[in-house]
Amino acid sequence: MKEREKIIIFDTTLRDGEQSPGFTMNIKEKILFADQLIKLGVDVIEAGFPVASEGDFEAVQLIAERAGELTVAGLARTDAGDIDIAWKALKNAKHPRIHTFISSSDIHIQYQLKSTREEVLKAALEAVRYARGYTEDVEFSPMDATRSDLNYLSEMVHAVIEAGAQTVNIPDTVGYAIPSDFSRMIRHLFQHVPNIRDAVISVHCHNDLGLAVANSLAAIEAGARQVECTVNGIGERAGNTAMEEIVMAIRTRSDLFNVRTDINTKQIVPTSRLLTNITGVAVQPNKAVVGDNAFAHESGIHQDGMLKNAVTYEIMRPEDVGIAKSTLVLGKHSGRHAVLDRLEALGFKLSREELDRFIKYFKDLADKKKEIHDEDLMALVGESMYKSGDERRYKVENIQISTGMQSLPMAMVTLKDHYSGSNEVFEVAHGNGGVDAGINAVKKITGTRAYLKAFNLVAITGGSDALSEVHSTVVEKVEEKELKVFGVGVSIDISVAGIISFVDALNKLEHMKKIGKLRKDVINVSL
Ligand code: KIV
Ligand code: ZN
Repeated sequence: MKEREKIIIFDTTLRDGEQSPGFTMNIKEKILFADQLIKLGVDVIEAGFPVASEGDFEAVQLIAERAGELTVAGLARTDAGDIDIAWKALKNAKHPRIHTFISSSDIHIQYQLKSTREEVLKAALEAVRYARGYTEDVEFSPMDATRSDLNYLSEMVHAVIEAGAQTVNIPDTVGYAIPSDFSRMIRHLFQHVPNIRDAVISVHCHNDLGLAVANSLAAIEAGARQVECTVNGIGERAGNTAMEEIVMAIRTRSDLFNVRTDINTKQIVPTSRLLTNITGVAVQPNKAVVGDNAFAHESGIHQDGMLKNAVTYEIMRPEDVGIAKSTLVLGKHSGRHAVLDRLEALGFKLSREELDRFIKYFKDLADKKKEIHDEDLMALVGESMYKSGDERRYKVENIQISTGMQSLPMAMVTLKDHYSGSNEVFEVAHGNGGVDAGINAVKKITGTRAYLKAFNLVAITGGSDALSEVHSTVVEKVEEKELKVFGVGVSIDISVAGIISFVDALNKLEHMKKIGKLRKDVINVSL
């Protein structure tokens, strides 16, 4: 049997994923997530769109410096200025890649770019040649490829490869493709572009019709050897190809696909979990591979089969995707070593500073809760790894709530405001329940006009002493535009978790407002 060819996993969680509403991350969170992508074993990290904002630029620059053997890509339009800035951000990477793009569909050329096919082809070629002046590793994407004239697309692919593109990505920008059709399109390119084997053919599928993974698999069958994807499938609108699904499909159906990836599949669930912790957006329970129910068996017949042999109803083993089945329960007498060992088994490697902070959170929790399970540890990791406060405007210092059946709920909240000399400010407020009172107190302190749109409780472990994780959706109207963000809060008390999640969302709003303007201009022009 022929050796399995490698599929390059190009992760764009930090670019296409992060650019979608509500998924914004600050620099520290991006770095933390990039470190996890390195552990996961992706081949390329698309770290951002450097011209879009100073935050994107800095994140690409910092990730470039720490990515080691991984390739780091930065996105750029075809303008020389964009490419210069992308290169400036990428230049310290050991393996930098400039990813430049322009639309190839007549719809985009006519209505968005107000240009002509000839002009667009010229811009694509000039951009690839210009980027090649900086690095050999240049990727080109004809945006909206799946709605483009196939002859024009073939001509463009041929020309950009001749101009030096080493990877040509075929994006299904609006999620329009159907697997059979997409595979025909990729085959057509292989048959009609004479120099096509001088480049790696990549695919980048959006999920508007729920077909992103299916389309990516169809493209692999037709010869594509790079897949662009995101963790949990996040991304513009309905999202992108989900990394965990494409990787596990290739692996589980290795009887059909004579290809492989170098992903360490045991890191899949920790990576998914870290992303939900950072963004505050949980995946749906029935989400393939990483959803809470992905390995849960409810029906009696299924349970009976599982007890006899797991192969009856499981096509993947939970441990292969990093769902650690632990019989070890930690508690207040557990030492630093035991905690560290368990964290490593779960796939988390903390720095000394993070571990110190983690141990503090762990001890606090262990004082309140007898048994600490893996799910608790994973929730606390979020707190200790990325919420160290240095990039957040507000830090919750204290929350006290008094409520009951016959009393008027009241909360006292103390916040530290890093924008005003780290002053501690406290306020007391009433409300329709503890969460409402706490949020009212936060509103008094911050003066925010943002409001809570949705509140989603995820009880992490069973029992009345469960650690609660609350995901909140918070909205603020800024210059006629509704900014929507997600916040996450973890505490043994549901109301406290809710108030923390609201403050987390406010911090994200502050961050978005800081990076918002420039990014909005860029997005309007190009994407
Ligand atoms: O969806 C798309 O077309 C993109 C390109 C920039 C590759 O994200
Ligand atoms: Zn995209």
